[in-house]
Amino acid sequence: MRPADVRDVPFLERVLLEAYNWSEARFTLDWIRTDAMARRYLEEFPADGDLGVVAMVDGAPVGAVWGRALPADRAGYGFVAPDVPELTLGVLPQARGRGVATRLMSNVIEAAWERRLPGLSLSVEDGNAVRWLYERPGFEVVGRNGNSDTMLLRPAAGTRTTRRPA
Ligand SMILES: CC(C)(COP(=O)(O)OP(=O)(O)OC[C@H]1O[C@@H](n2cnc3c(N)ncnc32)[C@H](O)[C@@H]1OP(=O)(O)O)[C@@H](O)C(=O)NCCC(=O)NCCS
Repeated sequence: MRPADVRDVPFLERVLLEAYNWSEARFTLDWIRTDAMARRYLEEFPADGDLGVVAMVDGAPVGAVWGRALPADRAGYGFVAPDVPELTLGVLPQARGRGVATRLMSNVIEAAWERRLPGLSLSVEDGNAVRWLYERPGFEVVGRNGNSDTMLLRPAAGTRTTRRPA
């Protein structure tokens, strides 16, 4: 696990596509690159207030989670407040089922509290089993946007349960 930086943007683009296509191949890379909403998740990353973690295996990235602190007038689907980064999470198909996402989430939550951020948010579409991965460290539903829930993790909940039991 290592912090994400500007050189990771091409990889984060692949992960963003995985997140958009969580249920089936609905979107293409070309679409991700041109859609105004999708672009918000990567344009000028990392800006002030952003954070991210990349999971590496044998020197190659296999998964990532990153948060964007977007202003209200350029909000993402899971916007809560401009100083609360909205997370995007994804693991490449060949690396799934081995705890990579669990560790990515623990790492990004720990990094957020180290930076004394007021919270982390995200958007999860109805039916995505990944919800469990968010509920476990304490994310709670705080809003609704289309067919997705907006979830928020506040520091008090996060500091209790970021680590998985051994
Ligand atoms: C969701 C995703 C990030 C999980 O990555 P992963 O590295 O395989 O996750 P983990 O191995 O850490 O598994 C975490 C837990 O979720 C469960 N889980 C993961 N994917 C699951 C799925 N598709 N269906 C049911 N359970 C699932 C695992 O069983 C595990 O539970 P456990 O710890 O109790 O055993 C990955 O499947 C992915 O990239 N999906 C597409 C993108 C996506 O949906 N992003 C989130 C958008 S909100």
